[in-house]
Amino acid sequence: MKNFSLLVVAVASSIALVTEAHVSFRFPCPRRASYNECPQPKSDSDWNLVDYDSISPVGSFNGINDPIPKHPASFPGNRPVFTAGLNVNTTYEVDAPHNGGTCQWTLSYDNGKTQVVIQDWFRNCLRDAKHGRRYTVSVKIPANAPSGPALLTWLWNNNEGSREMYASSADVVIQGSNGGSISGVAPAFCNYGPGSCFIAEEVVAGGNWGEVYFKNRKNITITVPPK
Ligand SMILES: *[C@@H]1O[C@H](CO)[C@@H](O)[C@H](O)[C@H]1NC(C)=O
Ligand SMILES: *[C@@H]1O[C@H](CO)[C@@H](O)[C@H](O)[C@H]1NC(C)=O
Repeated sequence: MKNFSLLVVAVASSIALVTEAHVSFRFPCPRRASYNECPQPKSDSDWNLVDYDSISPVGSFNGINDPIPKHPASFPGNRPVFTAGLNVNTTYEVDAPHNGGTCQWTLSYDNGKTQVVIQDWFRNCLRDAKHGRRYTVSVKIPANAPSGPALLTWLWNNNEGSREMYASSADVVIQGSNGGSISGVAPAFCNYGPGSCFIAEEVVAGGNWGEVYFKNRKNITITVPPK
């Protein structure tokens, strides 16, 4: 009996190791990530705030694990400066690419409370990503993006496996216009708690990847006052 329960524990923990590592931003740095090029804690008491698990989902259809953004702030440090109108090569730490899915990239100037989608990649985002290899996606910063500190968030619903929601949020600085506004749609947060829109596994749904939810996103305009 004792051996049996040990075996169960061993099997359960190896499953946990396999399923708890997926994909995150690598550049720009996700807030509080442990990646060594990212801002590090400045005080001893901050070491327990390091996120050693940036690549796990923030939730699934069954429940929300973390808010979006996952952390209220980054550790102090340099933020990358992105120029309005130019493309940025964002990179991803890939453990399990789950046969790709739908990505949305959003920009927020109020710490994630209001987010506007600046780029989509429906259905095939990360489909050709490989376990253990960095992945790169070019993201265009809107030409009319206002200057200032901003939060760039990557959102991803996977095609295969548990019905999950991934999110990485990075503090960046936008160099653009002095105040202004960006119009677009507010992101869809599917497979993020039992009340959210449900996207089934692509194969199970016969190729239905949840298009209707992305088509029905609400229009939003975010406005940043001039300095
Ligand atoms: C992004 O990566 C591509 C491919 O490596 C490269 O050609 C391009 O110059 C990069 N763009 C930026 C803005 O760094
Ligand atoms: C949302 O914005 C799009 C593009 O500007 C527009 O065509 C559409 O009518 C708007 N939808 C609503 C519900 O206002």
